[in-house]
Amino acid sequence: MKTKTQQGFFSIGVYRHKTDHNIGTLWRSAYILGASYIFTVCKKYKKQSSDVVKTWTRIPQFYYEDFDELMKNIPRDCRVVGVEMDDRAVELKDFEHPKRAIYLLGAEDNGLPPEVRDRCHFLVKLQGNSSMNVGVTGSIVMYDRISKIPTELPPDHRFG
Ligand SMILES: C[S@@+](CC[C@H](N)C(=O)[O-])C[C@H]1O[C@@H](n2cnc3c(N)ncnc32)[C@H](O)[C@@H]1O
Repeated sequence: MKTKTQQGFFSIGVYRHKTDHNIGTLWRSAYILGASYIFTVCKKYKKQSSDVVKTWTRIPQFYYEDFDELMKNIPRDCRVVGVEMDDRAVELKDFEHPKRAIYLLGAEDNGLPPEVRDRCHFLVKLQGNSSMNVGVTGSIVMYDRISKIPTELPPDHRFG
């Protein structure tokens, strides 16, 4: 059995999101699938009923003014994984997740801007010719991670 340190950790967040409802859905998945923290960049998150587990009460939620601030505050030896439909991106099914990873998703309308994509350590994409909902995409990425790197999940809760 691997210890938590050997498994590493991950966080997930969204750059300049449009709809708090989508983000609430993402936070719910993040908590259930074992994220260590969540964050938004460029726009604060207002709590939503879609986050039925109230993730921000269980794991830290951070806000970064911009991408530079995110990069200045990444934990030691952690890799930023941009999740975006980009020609350079590796398909998720072939992706080897870094042990310590920060997954960054883009806005519902414009996605991750080119200058942000360029500065991510890795880019990953899901199969398909059209973009998916941001919360759904993030949930699939996290599920792929915990399928490849067994992760200690939070205790079972019954949510209302
Ligand atoms: C609705 S999409 C943005 C669509 C935007 N119109 C575009 O084409 O750039 C919102 C975010 O979900 C994620 N996403 C959606 N589908 C994806 C896919 N197939 N592969 C990787 N990321 C995806 C990305 O993070 C994206 O920035």
